[in-house]
Amino acid sequence: MDDRIRLNYTNVLNNRVEQHGVKLAEIKKLSKKFKEIHRKIEEDTRSGKLGFRKLPYNTKLVPEILSLAERYRYKYNNFVVIGIGGSALGNIAIQQALHHSCWNMLSKEERKGWLRLFVLDNVDPVFIKDILDIIDVRETVFNIISKAGTTAECLANFFVLLKELKKCYKKEDLDKFKQHIIITTGPEKGFLRELVNKEGYTSFVIEDNVVGRFSVLSPVGLVSAAFTGVDIKMLLRGAREIDTLCSKNDSLFNNIAGMYAVLQYLLYQKGKHISVMLPYSNNLYYLADWFRQLWAESLGKKYNLNNQIVNVGPTPIKALGVTDQHSQLQLYIEGPYDKVVTFLSLEKYSVKVDIPLFYDHYLGGKTLNQLIKAEEEATRLALTKNLRPNLTISIPEISPYYLGQLFQFFELAAAYAGELFEINPFDQPGVVLGKELTYALMARPGYEKQKNIIEREIEKMKFSKYIV
Ligand code: PA5
Repeated sequence: MDDRIRLNYTNVLNNRVEQHGVKLAEIKKLSKKFKEIHRKIEEDTRSGKLGFRKLPYNTKLVPEILSLAERYRYKYNNFVVIGIGGSALGNIAIQQALHHSCWNMLSKEERKGWLRLFVLDNVDPVFIKDILDIIDVRETVFNIISKAGTTAECLANFFVLLKELKKCYKKEDLDKFKQHIIITTGPEKGFLRELVNKEGYTSFVIEDNVVGRFSVLSPVGLVSAAFTGVDIKMLLRGAREIDTLCSKNDSLFNNIAGMYAVLQYLLYQKGKHISVMLPYSNNLYYLADWFRQLWAESLGKKYNLNNQIVNVGPTPIKALGVTDQHSQLQLYIEGPYDKVVTFLSLEKYSVKVDIPLFYDHYLGGKTLNQLIKAEEEATRLALTKNLRPNLTISIPEISPYYLGQLFQFFELAAAYAGELFEINPFDQPGVVLGKELTYALMARPGYEKQKNIIEREIEKMKFSKYIV
């Protein structure tokens, strides 16, 4: 079996999709610039700026996480992650990729004692109530994840759950009560870190140099993965495989993440401003969701590195093969020429399902595996024939090892793409603004002035005459 994911870029070349494609000469031209980009990224890694590059090599933490998870196995039943954005999407992607699609409905024995996973990444009151309806908090671990340690959504949900938990214990049972809480947050600052210091909750650190959406291979993603029985060592090993490969190859044609970034960049310059991620696997649908955040928050920027306004950034979309062939594909094939599609293609599905022969139907005697593959091939061909550039990432099979590869591949690609677009892929000033406006509206001390201004703005909209 092949030991890594591969990128096939045949169908973005102009000999396949004509003027909508990329010329080989254009790629070659950028390969010189890529050498500089590669050097810069390696330098930034060495100087400690890019914390995500170190995560696959940080195996010291693994035994601690595994033994903690083992302590709760069979004894507890649920693991609830309370976080948002980069502090939640990777957890969901791992769970969805590596477990039975109905994991939470399996019995404890079927799960071999590992915990059910719920990820509370919204403050929709109905959502939290629904989860509380089906979990018994006395057999639940709550992992509160926030790098800043101050994010309103995360803290609000935490307090709601804390109240439920406190109902179950008397004051003298403080130790038992504490066993339900694990806090994953920044090393020094923030409300959550202060709480850990004060209350002595079990905690993990998200290092300052690890940005939220690049943190899935830190305790952010590893702890919930371990509590649900995922082989986290293999996740890290897979990520190391891709990281090492890309680290030692400054030649674009041997650097899979570099090539992905360069092609996405070149296609963006040709007006392909929408980047569709299309896994042919339900297991990988939430990886596409995780990618959506990585690509959007990293590359969507107002200012370039010279502080000029550029308002740049591809719009990532997620779709699912074959399901969305009956929803989105019409647009991708006949709509505006503004997209590049990335197929996530599985070489081998974990099971084979035969289609029984009924009524002499031609489908009988074939397999669902053949059907999904045929549909993938057909869609790829249809896109190409209609001059729609598309890339294919082949994944030998779904396993922690290849999932680790995919995470590191996309993160590195985002870092390279940031250099190509000449923006900072590691900040998110737009999100910060939204967070601060919320603080003001929720009357956080220190935000009084903003509160009055924002409330006046909201009033204007509420009573506008432009409402039908
Ligand atoms: O990628 C990012 O930095 C963001 O999406 C954050 O992960 C998100 O805003 C949550 O932040 P925090 O973990 O600090 O609560």
